[in-house]
Amino acid sequence: MTSTILVTGGTGFIGSHTTVLLQQAGYRTLVLDNLCNSSANVIDRIAQISGTRPDFIQGDIRDPALLDTLFKNNNIAGIMHFAGLKAVGESTRLPLQYYDNNVNGTVCLLLAAQKAGVKTIVFSSSATVYGDPISLPITEDHPRSATNPYGHTKLVIEDILENLYNAEPGWRIARLRYFNPVGAHPSGLIGEAPQGTPNNLMPYVAQVAAGRRERLQVFGSDYNTPDGTGVRDYIHVMDLAQGHLAALQHCQTKDSTLLSVNLGTGNGFSVLDMVRAFEAASGRAIPYDLVPRRPGDIAACWADTQRAEALIGWKATLGINQMCADAWRWETGQANQATGS
Ligand SMILES: NC(=O)c1ccc[n+]([C@@H]2O[C@H](COP(=O)([O-])OP(=O)(O)OC[C@H]3O[C@@H](n4cnc5c(N)ncnc54)[C@H](O)[C@@H]3O)[C@@H](O)[C@H]2O)c1
Repeated sequence: MTSTILVTGGTGFIGSHTTVLLQQAGYRTLVLDNLCNSSANVIDRIAQISGTRPDFIQGDIRDPALLDTLFKNNNIAGIMHFAGLKAVGESTRLPLQYYDNNVNGTVCLLLAAQKAGVKTIVFSSSATVYGDPISLPITEDHPRSATNPYGHTKLVIEDILENLYNAEPGWRIARLRYFNPVGAHPSGLIGEAPQGTPNNLMPYVAQVAAGRRERLQVFGSDYNTPDGTGVRDYIHVMDLAQGHLAALQHCQTKDSTLLSVNLGTGNGFSVLDMVRAFEAASGRAIPYDLVPRRPGDIAACWADTQRAEALIGWKATLGINQMCADAWRWETGQANQATGS
């Protein structure tokens, strides 16, 4: 039996791009996703791009019987664990759902993996575990704190993974802390497809450029940043996917390891920088209003990327113009599909 990577959340935004790269690198992939925030047709798109169809099971990571069957019937060499709920605002309204889905879901997954003797896992953590940064750029040793239930689920899962690593020899664990993933596959076939109103800047900007929304609201223009708007470390999803491959391959060379690694570019761009870059990429004007800050938002955040480079030999290569061009191609491709043109 060929060895397989189990990709939880593999029809989602970051999981789908990573599945493409895994397949192109010669891994067999098994995608497990309950489709609560994605669509099954992503599997067709992954097949179209990579030339091989991932195996796909529609199911939940909180289903122990299903997990046992998957581990029994497949020669799983490692897990890429993307499945989770990710909307900060929603997490403050529905904390129990977030703890159940993210924390309990991860415990179910780890119990099944432990039973099956699978001890390699790459986990989607987030720069949100750094809370409001006290120093920039943010290194992996920056103190961790959570400012909302979503962030707290990531913190707790990071700790669970560390407890497991300390308790049992042989685990190979990468905790990847993403900064702000944006962009799409250059084919325009897969990208971020938020349901309802986008929570993140880039899909919102794309929808304004496409005329699907009237204006962008820029939350906060009086931060202590060069133009007063919030500054973030935007990272192209293809770079991010490449970082997962590098982390997996690094883990596979070790008998045992526990890593925390930032995946960012090391560069901060403001909201208005991104608006201008998107206007240039799309050729469309993006009307916006400056409105008061959103509670809980931080002024600025960007990654120290030295550990990623030194430890897993990975560095982001794509800049904001590419991010915007690829996001725009994806946005217009979706619009053409909707109108049948
Ligand atoms: N996109 C970001 O800005 C960002 C930043 C930092 C960390 N992350 C983390 O990265 C991971 C992937 O994020 P994304 O942007 O691709 O999100 P996404 O919502 O596009 O993908 C997550 C996928 O997981 C699936 N899923 C959710 N709960 C599940 C469950 N219980 N069982 C099976 N499948 C389930 C969803 O249907 C979805 O396809 C998440 O864990 C997220 O918290 C994302």
